[in-house]
Amino acid sequence: MNFRSWTIHNLIVALFGTLLLLGNAKGDASFDENYDVTWGNDHVLSLNQGREIRLLLDKYSGSGFTSKSFFGSGFFKMKIKLPANDSGGLVTSFYLYLNESGVHDELDFEFLGNRPGKPIELQTNVFTNGVGGREQRYHLWFDPTMDFHYYSILWNHYQIMFFVDDIPIRVFKKTLGVGYPDNAMQVVVSLWDGSDWATDGGRVKVDFNNGPFEAYFQDFNINGCVSPKRNIQCLSQDYWWNLKRYWILNSKQQRAYEHVKKTYMIYDYCKNALPTNLECH
Ligand SMILES: *[C@@H]1O[C@H](CO)[C@@H](O)[C@H](O)[C@H]1NC(C)=O
Ligand SMILES: *[C@@H]1O[C@H](CO)[C@@H](O)[C@H](O)[C@H]1NC(C)=O
Repeated sequence: MNFRSWTIHNLIVALFGTLLLLGNAKGDASFDENYDVTWGNDHVLSLNQGREIRLLLDKYSGSGFTSKSFFGSGFFKMKIKLPANDSGGLVTSFYLYLNESGVHDELDFEFLGNRPGKPIELQTNVFTNGVGGREQRYHLWFDPTMDFHYYSILWNHYQIMFFVDDIPIRVFKKTLGVGYPDNAMQVVVSLWDGSDWATDGGRVKVDFNNGPFEAYFQDFNINGCVSPKRNIQCLSQDYWWNLKRYWILNSKQQRAYEHVKKTYMIYDYCKNALPTNLECH
């Protein structure tokens, strides 16, 4: 190889490297880079070179996947299309989770299916130090079975925000004397039979004659601070979600949030069932 071709060779390698970097920055991680199938292996189908995953529930099994890493802060998002037609009794869930050595923290999106023609409900919940019971439920302003939508959780040291697309639907602020997740959590996604509680308080069961049921997922990038399970060190402002502008909602978000609460919220533990051991939060 003479000098000239050596230079061209290096140039090509450098260019290719840059393209790869740009590709990553643009955000197109495959499922396998960030997630493992953890339930119902033969009920999980990878589509489009791992850019899309289909989970299936039938009478034999549900299915699910879990992030390879634990995270101590981040912006966790999933693009989801829910099971169509008869989804009564089904639960499709996307959540952050740690349950180990007596520590249980959890941030939940749970989609509670329904009979045809009845709206699917979105439930959020927050567990801190093993204490949950903070359910809020919403109707959505679109049909979540028709198209993919983003559902996301921003978690920093000041607040936890739940978003549907770019609309904040829930804010859980770090408050003195109230538990707050400060152990690293994993991302978990699953489709399962929640017949005993999910729809109309458990009166509506999954009708497997109308199955199998399919939920679809896209966008497997994770913007998170990878961390050991304890002693998280994820407060650095080098992570954009830790920046001051994400410590509170901006005024536009605040207005959108108020509107959603007023218009689409159908259940709030604060109003409907505040357990005696919880403060409204
Ligand atoms: C849902 O119902 C529609 C209309 O009956 C049908 O075209 C479609 O295939 C069904 N989808 C699934 C996933 O069963
Ligand atoms: C947490 O883990 C314990 C012990 O493994 C288990 O009994 C319990 O059901 C788990 N809780 C949840 C909410 O998964």
